[in-house]
Amino acid sequence: MSSEDKDEMVVTPWEVRGKVDYERLIREFGTQPLTEELLKRLESFTGELHLQLRRELFFSHRDLDTVLDLYEKGTKFVLYTGRGPSGPVHIGHLVPWIFTKHLQDHFDTRLYFQMTDDEKFLIDDENKLEDMTRYGFENALDLIALGFKPENTFIIYDVQDIDLLYDIALEVAKRITYSTARATFGFQDSTNLGWVFWPAVQAVPCFIHKKLTGENVPALIPAAIDQDPYWRITRDIAQKLGYHKPAQIHNRFLPGLGIGGKMSASEPETCIFTTDTPEVVKRKVWNAFTGGKGTATEQRKTGADPTICTIFQYFLYLFEQDDKKLSEREKRCRSGEILCGECKKELPERINTFLAEHQKKREKARDTLEKFHIKR
Ligand code: TYM
Repeated sequence: MSSEDKDEMVVTPWEVRGKVDYERLIREFGTQPLTEELLKRLESFTGELHLQLRRELFFSHRDLDTVLDLYEKGTKFVLYTGRGPSGPVHIGHLVPWIFTKHLQDHFDTRLYFQMTDDEKFLIDDENKLEDMTRYGFENALDLIALGFKPENTFIIYDVQDIDLLYDIALEVAKRITYSTARATFGFQDSTNLGWVFWPAVQAVPCFIHKKLTGENVPALIPAAIDQDPYWRITRDIAQKLGYHKPAQIHNRFLPGLGIGGKMSASEPETCIFTTDTPEVVKRKVWNAFTGGKGTATEQRKTGADPTICTIFQYFLYLFEQDDKKLSEREKRCRSGEILCGECKKELPERINTFLAEHQKKREKARDTLEKFHIKR
């Protein structure tokens, strides 16, 4: 929900604004930092640390240690993540999904993926339900294009599959008071009734595995930290209902191409959609904020600051796999050896190579969509 001060940090499931202070979020949300020790433990299962862990793009968690303890003793876990389909997928959304796939591959676990057309309908007066539902199927193509295993991946389309969810949603909703929900989500008198109930629906996939298979195992949720309020209320009631508390691993936000904030579809010119054409990608990147100096001469002399440069963040998050090359780019930027124009030329090439492949796989996924549906 919105706040008056433009620079103030706001991180809710529906709005991310201002400069995000991740340390402060850990304190205020009451999560745990991802420690070296925990990363080592993860590495012992996966054989190598995933790029997103090495680069601290995932930075915080809840109960990841408990999940690994249980796993070591023979209790598996399931993965759970999702998407609010209010438009096309952007490359920021891919960040937690790429990591989720890494976990699915290494731990051989099921993934429950929730497509929340109902949420997106409720939270915005302008959104039509049929459009959200249609985007849900379109967005699922992006997920499938990343290579998830059909036998281990179960996509839930909320409106279509509500019969599977409703009994658990009721059990959850009955145990959360309005005052807790208001304090957690900032609901106001003008908030519609559907929105107030809705968080119970996002809780359901944390627990659905037991209903489907009889196995009571914890869910591990890879997602950006904006989704955390949902997990706070879900964790509060999980044990009362006889389930494990869901665990989380939180990623940072891929920034938009403008100044500050996360990549967000509400500002399309600062956002790379997976369906963008090469020309559009070039144009958007060319107009991106880099924080470079006023003139080439000045930048050659004093260098620039990659930590405030959006372009550098894209190499860091997604488009430079080689750690050495990334740190060379960083050094050369700081020393003024390369200028922003060079990075602005290289990045679209990388993005477009990725998107060309992704778009092909995305089209192919139309044939297999049904294999991933929870009710297949
Ligand atoms: P949504 O559609 O806002 O976001 C989908 C996923 O992408 C993450 N995300 C980002 N990650 C990195 N950089 C960004 N700029 C960025 N923007 C968004 C989100 O944290 C999310 O993981 N209510 C949810 C849908 C949902 C869900 C879930 C998400 C239902 N169940 C379980 C995660 C886990 C939503 O609207 O996500």
